[in-house]
Amino acid sequence: MKKYDVLIIGAGIAGLYAAMRLPESMKVLVVCKDIPWECNTFYAQGGIVTALDAEDISLHVEDTMKAGVYHNDQEVVEIMSRTSLETTADIIDRGMEFDKDDNGDILYTKEAAHSIERIVHADGDATGRYMHYFMMVQNKHHMQKNTLVYDLLIEDGRCYGVKAMVNYEPETIYAEHIIIASGGIGSLYVLNTNSRTVSADIQGVCVEKGIELADMEFMQFHPTVFIDTPYARKLLLTEALRGEGAHVVGEQGNRFLFDYDERGELAGRDIVARGIFDYKRKTGENAYLDFSMFEKKWFRERFPNISYTFEGLGFHFPKDKISISPAFHYANGGISTDPQGSVYGIQGLYAIGEVACTGVHGANRLASNSLLEGMVFAKRAVEYILGQEKHSEKTPAFDKDYDNILHRENDKKYKHQLREIMWKDVGIIRTWEGMIEAKNFIYDIKNREIGRLLELRLNTAASIVNAALSRKESLGSHYVEK
Ligand code: SIN
Repeated sequence: MKKYDVLIIGAGIAGLYAAMRLPESMKVLVVCKDIPWECNTFYAQGGIVTALDAEDISLHVEDTMKAGVYHNDQEVVEIMSRTSLETTADIIDRGMEFDKDDNGDILYTKEAAHSIERIVHADGDATGRYMHYFMMVQNKHHMQKNTLVYDLLIEDGRCYGVKAMVNYEPETIYAEHIIIASGGIGSLYVLNTNSRTVSADIQGVCVEKGIELADMEFMQFHPTVFIDTPYARKLLLTEALRGEGAHVVGEQGNRFLFDYDERGELAGRDIVARGIFDYKRKTGENAYLDFSMFEKKWFRERFPNISYTFEGLGFHFPKDKISISPAFHYANGGISTDPQGSVYGIQGLYAIGEVACTGVHGANRLASNSLLEGMVFAKRAVEYILGQEKHSEKTPAFDKDYDNILHRENDKKYKHQLREIMWKDVGIIRTWEGMIEAKNFIYDIKNREIGRLLELRLNTAASIVNAALSRKESLGSHYVEK
């Protein structure tokens, strides 16, 4: 039986940074569902937070806690902020290049709810793409594409591996340590900014195995997304645009966000998303992002990829304003782990990055903390793994399989209905009636003849709606209209 020392599920920033930190002497396999760059890291624009120095840690912690409405685990936030000094230095030492000024000094930007400029970026607005490329090049371990994990092999409180479709054939992959770094839940919402591969499968397996998902009511919606495209992934307009001074306006050019919060465009992401959603609903007007205050040359240098992408759609930035809508962006909740990334109650199983919930984000993630979270908890999980003795339990046989029932005939139709209902009823502004309707829909479909992958999605959707129904008062990104 072939067995790896470490299996990493996911090739976004968390999975790749974990791979980078595992020695070449170990037998490591990194798997991804599709091609490696179909992940949320690749599409991250604005940047990655780093505490500027030891003095900035307390302010970064406070900004993170305030954005998270103090629902965060402060100890874990402090760990993340402190470790940012090491992780940022580590990748710069290994050759990652962030944007610099003419004197060769790193440029820092600001995004909503940050007190100061502490976000570093690459190629202006392609930070995720550059970091992903950098980590792909650094990776010395074997990477296997087209590997869709649909079960975790767990017995007596230990995980022994996974079952996966590898190039459309079922396979069992065994490992001493299994790191889940498979990202969030974007495909559950009809409007989302996520890679098409991010579809909540492994969270759904966890629900089935009785592994706790925490903070699932806190789904985050990005305020400024261009949704008038036929593709599933809607186009993000980074928060760094507002950080640099872009305005959100109504049809008359009115900056209506000041009616919702005195910080206007720079209020926390939950407040801005809700303000835009509410304004559009209330007035029947569209909302826009206005860049007309920027000088053309500066704008194109600072946001080259956004300029280029939207030119292809017929826009001329910074002259043209663009219509915006909030869209699902990031799962604050996920598989509950300790601060080392260990999944509670299961030996040998870890979760890091967006798929995990360490408590770092609270009720609403602070902008650009996500790439940082991926690196910090990858580092910590690897350090923990390297300190472990090899376990001696014999690997049990795992015979049950699902190979030919991953999909069934009506799954596509139900998946689409689920995405619509999650957006309408478990979205930015929720009602009790809506959430109950969504719950009834989810359990109704779960009782039909459906494929395993849809069942996993429904498990995760159920955990979101159940968590939302359990939280009676609005908090952060969980907002219930009474
Ligand atoms: C953005 O660039 O606006 C996204 C940043 C983030 O999700 O933290």
